[in-house]
Amino acid sequence: MKNILHIISSARGEQSYSNKLSSFILERLLQQGNINKITVRDLIKNTPPHADEVSIHEFYKHPALYDEQSQQLLSYANMIVNEVREADIIIIGTPMFNLGISTPLKAWLDQLIRMGITYVFDEHWDRVGQFKGKKVYLAVASGGKRAEGAPDYISAYLKDVFRNYTGITDVETYRIEGTMENGFTADYESILKDFGTANELF
Ligand SMILES: Cc1cc2nc3c(=O)[nH]c(=O)nc-3n(C[C@H](O)[C@H](O)[C@H](O)COP(=O)(O)O)c2cc1C
Repeated sequence: MKNILHIISSARGEQSYSNKLSSFILERLLQQGNINKITVRDLIKNTPPHADEVSIHEFYKHPALYDEQSQQLLSYANMIVNEVREADIIIIGTPMFNLGISTPLKAWLDQLIRMGITYVFDEHWDRVGQFKGKKVYLAVASGGKRAEGAPDYISAYLKDVFRNYTGITDVETYRIEGTMENGFTADYESILKDFGTANELF
């Protein structure tokens, strides 16, 4: 039985294409069965704190030195780390903003990724991710369409972050493009047409 974590990061609620595409992915996974628990982390309703001087200091403190203030400052970070740790599958919806991810999603990542927690160093000073074996689905909405061969910064960036700092290497991207074009209609079915076949594992 699998646990799913669903991350929502567009402020546009029901109007959001990334929220909807990520919900369609969730639905497909539910159709496949074998799901134990779904946790929704809505980064708009509950905005992640930004890393500031004091919280960054706590991030690098040895756990033996944690005090009451540390626990308070790290409470959001610890909560989302536990949510990711518990999840087998993570679905992340994000709008494309200036070729990158939404700011709440960036703030969530900056709270999540932590030396000693999501990755450690081995005796050769190589990073070892602590969350290996999980699956990430990205649902990315963009107003325009990427030109043939143009870089996909969002997918490349998130894949690198997950691989290097969590050990998660299985990141699959679904895109809904051209949402701001005249007469645009969303066709989630065709975006996800190969979903079942590619994901027999789950
Ligand atoms: C601040 C801002 C920056 C944007 N930057 C881009 C961009 O770089 N490329 C693009 O194709 N669309 C861009 N868009 C359009 C959004 O990606 C598009 O509206 C998308 O559908 C938003 O996702 P959502 O529907 O999940 O809210 C931008 C929109 C805003 C508000």
